[in-house]
Amino acid sequence: MNRKEFLKKFAMAGTAAMVIPSLAKANAFGLGTNKRLRVAVIGCGSVSGVYLPHLVRSPFVEVVAVCDIKPERAKQRAEEFHVPNQYPHIDKLLDGVDFDLLVNLTDMQEHGRLNKMALLKGKNVWSEKPLANSYREGYDLLQLSKKQGLRIWGAPAVVNSPQFAFMAKQINEGKLGKVAAAHAHYGHLGPTWSAFFYEKGGGSLPDLGVYNLTTLSGLLGPVKSVVAMTNILTPERAVDDKGKIAVEAEDNASVLMEHEGGAISHVMCGFNYFDPYGHTGTGQDKPTISLVGTRGAMHLIGYDWAPFAVEIATMDHEQPQRFATDTGSYVWQEGASVISRSLVEGIEPLINAEHSLHVLEIIEAARESQKERKRISLASTFPYPVIK
Ligand SMILES: NC(=O)c1ccc[n+]([C@@H]2O[C@H](COP(=O)([O-])OP(=O)(O)OC[C@H]3O[C@@H](n4cnc5c(N)ncnc54)[C@H](O)[C@@H]3O)[C@@H](O)[C@H]2O)c1
Repeated sequence: MNRKEFLKKFAMAGTAAMVIPSLAKANAFGLGTNKRLRVAVIGCGSVSGVYLPHLVRSPFVEVVAVCDIKPERAKQRAEEFHVPNQYPHIDKLLDGVDFDLLVNLTDMQEHGRLNKMALLKGKNVWSEKPLANSYREGYDLLQLSKKQGLRIWGAPAVVNSPQFAFMAKQINEGKLGKVAAAHAHYGHLGPTWSAFFYEKGGGSLPDLGVYNLTTLSGLLGPVKSVVAMTNILTPERAVDDKGKIAVEAEDNASVLMEHEGGAISHVMCGFNYFDPYGHTGTGQDKPTISLVGTRGAMHLIGYDWAPFAVEIATMDHEQPQRFATDTGSYVWQEGASVISRSLVEGIEPLINAEHSLHVLEIIEAARESQKERKRISLASTFPYPVIK
């Protein structure tokens, strides 16, 4: 069954109304507010060095195991973060020490397969993006999690930032009037350490565009249709793990989206963007996301995964003003810690699996639009507004 047939058969329009296994399941683990969720991390590469310090500081988490097919990496992280168990393979991890949540930080191409194995073994899942390698696979994983009475969530955590909350509130309160258009961009010169970012199943859309796509759909609502152009601007790269490689996935993308409310937004992302602020965007004072409506314009300062402020000008106050300059405790790597807390306390987080799947469908539709040279309709949706 191809994507189109699948979507027709399982018309996703009703997903938001589907029963989500209750977080009361956490109580079935015997967890209470004083308990810690037992967490295992798979994938001990670059991003694990940012996740693990956050996870081990969380009062809701006990990191009980790490795993990597490069065992020396698991050993190093286990020593660094005093993790008692380390494994060289998912089979050994799943048959080893008991745990409640798998945090999947492996190559993008491995996410769907490993997430499924974990769900089948009764583990909840937090996955780095993408949640799965196709919309269909992600949809099946979500169904499986429901069948198992488990939960699955995927990065990014952008909807948790105080700046996202502030922007959503302005839109909800009508400060911008009717929102007509939005633009977002994120790019850098591309990761240098691993080939998977450029191989089939990788690409700048699931690695970078995913942040802006999540933010804009989170602010403006589910996307009805997509038109996109993608290409490969740098066909050959040198990476640490494989040397010289041929680039197979898009490293340059521009996506136009029509949201249910009528706004048309644009996301551009890629691995060929010179960025004067560097990968982390530190010190950036320029907007990376702009929205405009009939009564006002609003700009997010800094990247949406690490924003610094929101600037807004309206008919009532034409001089631009800066708000939400306090970043609070939000950091982009907090997703796994936040959902661990949710599982312990039984609180539904803002991060939502249907939203992740919707973004996955946007990415797939963007690629299909490029391939077929036409506008692609979407079938999925997610609970909106994200911030009530
Ligand atoms: N590095 C970052 O700054 C960053 C930031 C945000 C999100 N991410 C996301 O995190 C994920 C990992 O990225 P990374 O930069 O850490 O990559 P990486 O190459 O540095 O690390 C991936 C690790 O996963 C291991 N691995 C691969 N397949 C495995 C398997 N089947 N079982 C066990 N281990 C396996 C690899 O050996 C490697 O150590 C990607 O989805 C990426 O998009 C990365």
